[in-house]
Amino acid sequence: MKPFYITTAIDYTNAPPHIGHAYEKVLADVMARFQRAQGREVYFLTGVDQHGQKVQKSAEQAGQSPEDFVAGVTSHFTALWQQLEVRPDGWAATTDERHKRVVQAMLQRLHDDGQLYKKSYRGFYSLRQEQFLTDRERDENGEFGPQWGEVVEFEEENWYFRLGQHVAWLREFIRSHPDFIFPAHRAAEVLHALEGPEQDLCISRPIERLSWGIPLPFDPRFVNYVWFDALSNYLSFAGYLGQECGNADLPAFEPLWPADAQIIGKDILVPAHAVYWPIMLHALGFSDEQMPRLVVHGWWNVRGAKMSKSLGNVIDPKLLAATFSGDGLRYYLMRDIATGYDSDFSDERLLMSYNKELAGGLGNLLNRSLNMAHQYLGGVVDWSDHDDEHNQALRRTVAEALPAYLKAMNGWGIDEGIAAAWSVVTAANAFVDATKPFMLAKDPAQGARLRSVLAHLAEALWHVSALLDPVMPTAMAKVREQLALPLPDGFRIDQLAWGVLPQGHQLAKPTPVFPRIDPASLAPPASA
Ligand code: MSP
Repeated sequence: MKPFYITTAIDYTNAPPHIGHAYEKVLADVMARFQRAQGREVYFLTGVDQHGQKVQKSAEQAGQSPEDFVAGVTSHFTALWQQLEVRPDGWAATTDERHKRVVQAMLQRLHDDGQLYKKSYRGFYSLRQEQFLTDRERDENGEFGPQWGEVVEFEEENWYFRLGQHVAWLREFIRSHPDFIFPAHRAAEVLHALEGPEQDLCISRPIERLSWGIPLPFDPRFVNYVWFDALSNYLSFAGYLGQECGNADLPAFEPLWPADAQIIGKDILVPAHAVYWPIMLHALGFSDEQMPRLVVHGWWNVRGAKMSKSLGNVIDPKLLAATFSGDGLRYYLMRDIATGYDSDFSDERLLMSYNKELAGGLGNLLNRSLNMAHQYLGGVVDWSDHDDEHNQALRRTVAEALPAYLKAMNGWGIDEGIAAAWSVVTAANAFVDATKPFMLAKDPAQGARLRSVLAHLAEALWHVSALLDPVMPTAMAKVREQLALPLPDGFRIDQLAWGVLPQGHQLAKPTPVFPRIDPASLAPPASA
């Protein structure tokens, strides 16, 4: 099977990361880890979008050169990925010389193929979205809405890409390939956007207006439009034209392509990822079978409103991870949203998910189970001959959790995958309540039953740690440290079966994996 090639949007380096950026990268990281656990080889690419007007402007405002400015902002992103255990295999920074060479080679190919032409155009230009606007972008009052920011009218000579030529192909491709976009309902949005007159795409900016970009190889008075540059990262950092461009240290392209999952937010589906991107590939000669798959996630809002600097409600993931740990934040970000839909960020729910579920539900179960095992049995797993309906019910829950988990995770239902793992935590807590090992310990005649109960608990906890490993890698490794059994080399989650802990296995001592957080110790909510 080909390696699983997974990408994310590359973040603009005009401001430090917020919770939306963190969510997308954690989602990709969880999927990358899950695929690895299923035995797939994985190439996970993420990075930063460093060129363009937005960045040039922010650098000017900060009184810095664009180079220094992007270096500074980029370091906030890389530090956050460290903190959140987001571990990409490739890092796509668009100022990387290897990327620039590939973008120029791509542009030259399109130019040589007659896909690019130069013309003069007078029109309205959105400074915020860095694009010329047409009448289609006017609202019902004939105005360009606030989403376009400042709009100015001017005439300019530029290079254009014959996008319109490929629109008929794209319509047909989208109709005949329902797998191209996940969730599938988003395809209708794209088809709707493809109605109306076919237009070409301006892919250059004159250097007098924008110098912070990649020069066109055939006309260096222009730099490349930031979206063309940015979308190309998915090819350049996967080794496309690697030999021609001397990029020997990047992966071999053929085994990786096409991308199995390109994770993006819903705001950048149309037109960038569902129109420009497949058409760029088509124009470069990629076949229908070589088109990637888009995975479109929803947005994190704050009390129903979009996060924005002006509202002062931007949520800083760095502070949250410092309080709740990287894994605590990863857990919340994965459990409280369904892939493809929006969710509302809430400090209360984050605290609840940590204290009630991680500390109270899972952490406490581990602590209790290991303490009893040490107190009553010297920490030794002894399966004993005893069996009863409680044991059987717990084993059944564990057995049923795995297929539900695999199905959910393979279909991007990370929240449901977590819920499947959680069914074991809930059942194991109920199992303790029903079997009352602390009572059994008082009655020497119940020794065999006590040993079987504690062995079942330790085993069930190991299963939970394996299922939740992609979501909380560090915390789950700690759980297994206490159970004194790491994931074996070549471990396959899809082959997980009861009986991992051997007879006579010695458990380690418990220490809290999720120390409870006192709500009184927390600063007032950032979103107040
Ligand atoms: N640089 C472009 C992407 C180029 S990809 C070739 C860009 N950058 S961005 O920094 O504005 O956004 C990066 C990603 O973060 C996008 O996928 C976007 O949807 C996502 N998010 C930004 N705000 C978000 C939320 N509030 N919630 C969830 N994700 C959101 O667009």
